[in-house]
Amino acid sequence: MEDKKIPVIIDTDPGVDDALAIMIAAASDKIDLLGITPVDGNVSAVFTHKNALNLVSFLGIDADVAEGGYDQLVYRYGRYASSHGAEGMGGVELPQSDRKFHELRAWDYIYEKAKEHNGELVIIAIGPLTNIARTLIMHPDIKPMIKKIVMMGGSTERGNVTPYAEFNFIVDPPAAKVVFESGIPLVMAGLNVTLKTGISFDFIGSLAKESGSKIGGMLNELIHGYSDVNINKEGEKSSVVHDAIAVAYVIDPTKLETEEDRIEIQTERFCEGTWGQSKVVSGEPNCTVITDIDMDYYRQLYRDTVEHFSNLK
Ligand code: RIB
Ligand code: CA
Repeated sequence: MEDKKIPVIIDTDPGVDDALAIMIAAASDKIDLLGITPVDGNVSAVFTHKNALNLVSFLGIDADVAEGGYDQLVYRYGRYASSHGAEGMGGVELPQSDRKFHELRAWDYIYEKAKEHNGELVIIAIGPLTNIARTLIMHPDIKPMIKKIVMMGGSTERGNVTPYAEFNFIVDPPAAKVVFESGIPLVMAGLNVTLKTGISFDFIGSLAKESGSKIGGMLNELIHGYSDVNINKEGEKSSVVHDAIAVAYVIDPTKLETEEDRIEIQTERFCEGTWGQSKVVSGEPNCTVITDIDMDYYRQLYRDTVEHFSNLK
């Protein structure tokens, strides 16, 4: 019997790596992408919302877009020069969508879908956790209805905004704290795994050339307009597509390595500038932390995505 698809909502701040993660999720036959809930992050929420609508329209993805927050739970630590280009899409101009937002705001939409899928809903959170925290605060009875939250965020090693804090968490540490204290099963793709598992420019370039398709060219253009670059664990100059690791976990967790940790989010202002740190502490684990991914599997997801969208005009 064919495996049942996993009902998924992606909470996101598109963002180039968010866009690639959304494409990989939409192309997978393991995922039923119900909806996308944009959040303020990489660029202002006005742009993350616009990019989300334009992406689902351009790609022909049959998913709702439910309007998220334009702010943070308390206040935003700071706005940084985005590595995603001025409007978040690495300079790629997508056609202006005429799609409308879903009638429900993100936190009510997630609640309705959680009730509908009674315990099977998986949330892939690849931006700051403001929408997710707001959902848990406004609908505390939702917790047992969420199977797990698989996030890109945090780090068990260094940060990328301060030596301690990763971007998604430092934009809204109180929101991250609400999520990590919720008791919901959590999976974290932090910088400790994403920085070493970038996708090589050579690979994406050859994929685009071989496919000769619009989507292949778009992938290539997106990563060349995105300045998060690193040498990956195979020694290749690569684009750090942080968010795609979270999606890769949902599609086939057996292809990733993990450890169980207890993570606490630092939100005390006086604590030596560790605001937003995802600190590993002793005690009962509350999070499955991803530590590695099979790169052959990971590259195959890009091939599958280009194949899936190969007829895009
Ligand atoms: O630190 C990387 C994370 O911050 C990714 O989700 C990227 O899209 C940005 O939101
Ligand atoms: Ca993101």
